[in-house]
Amino acid sequence: MITATVLTELIKIVGEAFVFTDDETLNEYGKDHTEDLVFPPSVVVKPASTSQVSAIMKIAFENEIPVIPIGARTGLSGGILAVHKGIGLSLERMNQIEKIDEENLQVITQPGVITEVLQNAVAQKGLFYPVDPSSKGSCFIGGNIAENAGGARAVKYGVTKDYVLNLEVVLPNGDIITTAANTLKNATGYNLTQLMVGSEGTLGIVTKIVLKLLPAVQHNVLLWVPFYKMEQAAAAVSAIFKAGVVPSALEFMERDAIVWTSKFVEVPEVYLKPENEAHLLIEVDGNYPDVLMNEAEKILSVVENFEIDEVLFADTTDQKNTLWKLRRNIAEAVKQNTVYKEEDTVVPRYELPALLKGIKEIGAKYGFKSICYGHAGDGNLHVNIVKLDMDDDLWKTEVPKGVNEIFKLTKLLNGTISGEHGIGLVQKEFMPIVFSEIELNLMHQIKKIFDPKNIMNPGKIFPSSYSN
Ligand code: LAC
Ligand code: ZN
Repeated sequence: MITATVLTELIKIVGEAFVFTDDETLNEYGKDHTEDLVFPPSVVVKPASTSQVSAIMKIAFENEIPVIPIGARTGLSGGILAVHKGIGLSLERMNQIEKIDEENLQVITQPGVITEVLQNAVAQKGLFYPVDPSSKGSCFIGGNIAENAGGARAVKYGVTKDYVLNLEVVLPNGDIITTAANTLKNATGYNLTQLMVGSEGTLGIVTKIVLKLLPAVQHNVLLWVPFYKMEQAAAAVSAIFKAGVVPSALEFMERDAIVWTSKFVEVPEVYLKPENEAHLLIEVDGNYPDVLMNEAEKILSVVENFEIDEVLFADTTDQKNTLWKLRRNIAEAVKQNTVYKEEDTVVPRYELPALLKGIKEIGAKYGFKSICYGHAGDGNLHVNIVKLDMDDDLWKTEVPKGVNEIFKLTKLLNGTISGEHGIGLVQKEFMPIVFSEIELNLMHQIKKIFDPKNIMNPGKIFPSSYSN
């Protein structure tokens, strides 16, 4: 598919040092963190500027070659897998923070900047970019936009979409557009910015990003609450908000998530008590320690209405880091331990106990074990279905049926099938559970307007009946 002429043209644009066709590189760029899936592209190209991205897209458009925008490859829905081969376009060299605008509390950045690097850079100026995916130490801000990444602080501060003011985008034909303005408000035409956010690299390539920032927050308090019963932990979540507190993080972990993670991260014994079925990790933040203590007390008075073990206050930075390290490493720990499938269910938060109960019942019906954890404050529950010693055939036949039922349950509870990981490759066949044909067709028509030749990350989001 990639002819010698096309290869020569790509080399002319980015230089020989940044065009790769060796198997090792192709394999490397053909996988992300989604299960053990590998779909290598035909060639990996690493442009350094918007004009290079545009020139590459013009060639791809002319020759009808698929292009897959590639970030840090930490995705969990297979967004960067080159299912139709083509050009793997890595944004890793576009890794400059162009401007931290202290007057307007904004940052202008290229897409290949690691999220935590951006957070630290703005923190140096007393500013705060709150969106905090577990992979923040390696994921790119561009990938966060592609998937509308969330993370633990979303419950108070929102997700990526809530910070994106304006984008520069290279369209599939090579045209370069700006989606909005660098303003907090904008009532000017259709909202192309938000259409791009979460579009998983299927509409264009984001080459510049303007993000809103907040002033730094000075203090936080972290509570670890062990529950004897899993469903009570889930029920306590909405009760906390009802009592008038909005935590800056409210995470749920069932016991196995902690046990498995403890094999990779040092976890004090007290977090592993067998009688505690699940835990909530609750953070409140702000600038006034006495207000935070009041909020923590209020949370305590709510959780005490449930059957809980002793609550731990993490007051040293070390204790806080241990707890967050434990929480952030769950996905990786499960991956290291067994073949698994990760689902990203989300429901209105009051429905969380019903969702959790349903997931466990569905698992029992189809004979699989699940490990649930996640951003309970958002009603966002990650469901890791783990294979362990489950029979290979049953894994293939029963798990998809179970997933189908879990997703139908999320729909029934007024939720949906992905909160923050995206649809990508691995969830696309389930889209008809949450969208009607009319709704899917409408989205597909949008896709066709942007990408008439279907070269922009084809084979993603839409079920295969759309033959994309
Ligand atoms: C997490 C990732 C898997 O919450 O979304 O750790
Ligand atoms: Zn998550």
